[in-house]
Amino acid sequence: MKTAIYYFSGTGNSLKVAKDIASGLESAELIPIAKCIDQESIYCSADKIGVIFPVYIWGMPLIVVEFVKKLITEKNAYIFGVTTCGGMAAGTMKQLDTLLEEKSLKLSAGFVIKMPGNYTPMYGAPADVKQNKMFDKESLKIKEIVEVVNNSGEGPVESDFFLLNMIFSGLIYKAGSKNIPKMDKSFWVDENCNHCGTCAKVCPVNNIEMEEGSPKWQSKCEQCLACLQWCPSEAIQFGKKTPGRKRYHHPEISLADIRVDNC
Ligand SMILES: Cc1cc2nc3c(=O)[nH]c(=O)nc-3n(C[C@H](O)[C@H](O)[C@H](O)COP(=O)(O)O)c2cc1C
Repeated sequence: MKTAIYYFSGTGNSLKVAKDIASGLESAELIPIAKCIDQESIYCSADKIGVIFPVYIWGMPLIVVEFVKKLITEKNAYIFGVTTCGGMAAGTMKQLDTLLEEKSLKLSAGFVIKMPGNYTPMYGAPADVKQNKMFDKESLKIKEIVEVVNNSGEGPVESDFFLLNMIFSGLIYKAGSKNIPKMDKSFWVDENCNHCGTCAKVCPVNNIEMEEGSPKWQSKCEQCLACLQWCPSEAIQFGKKTPGRKRYHHPEISLADIRVDNC
């Protein structure tokens, strides 16, 4: 039985979850969503399909919404979803459920996993002790998920309660997410930039061009913050608050792992 796991990940949390789930399944292939998104439609012949991605503004990243809209599966494909979040996913999994339903596809199980938050414009990375506790809980949850997926089980579609979903995933997501592509106006580079170009290489959607050795963002940003988080000199900033804040990427995911052009 073939499983295809499509993932999107800026700082490695969702990629780690995707890898861990894949290693518990019989035969699973990992596919970066960013690698196939330019296709007009995305046909997947696998018997089981996983969609794994981070929560952005209490909803799905725009690239993942586009991916689901383009996805074509076999009629009886078993579909599961997993989202990673820093604190609250609200109705993110319900959003995936609804999008699939609109295409007459079914989300058989949708899971939420709390991982270290990576939104540096608002907060620094959690302390290592706190991160490790989250990773321990992640391992336990992966076992649950693998069992459900191996049995093609009908699991829960995890979400918060109705009012929270309505406010955060309804009102705030709808108002905020449409601005995401152009929010890259707030990125800037400080004097520590050594012009290595890591930011351009790690951007999953090729939104960064190097001009005279410096990154220039092209307004098709997903806000994954990969450029800011993986910069070896911590020279990329966003707005006023990021200088000096602790950066984050999953400790078991390397720069080579996260780069979509390596896959
Ligand atoms: C643009 C952006 C928006 C985010 N919004 C939320 C959110 O609404 N709720 C939440 O709990 N975490 C939020 N986060 C944190 C991420 O969902 C979380 O750290 C996730 O595990 C990152 O996954 P990745 O490492 O695969 O990119 C946000 C992160 C980013 C970059």
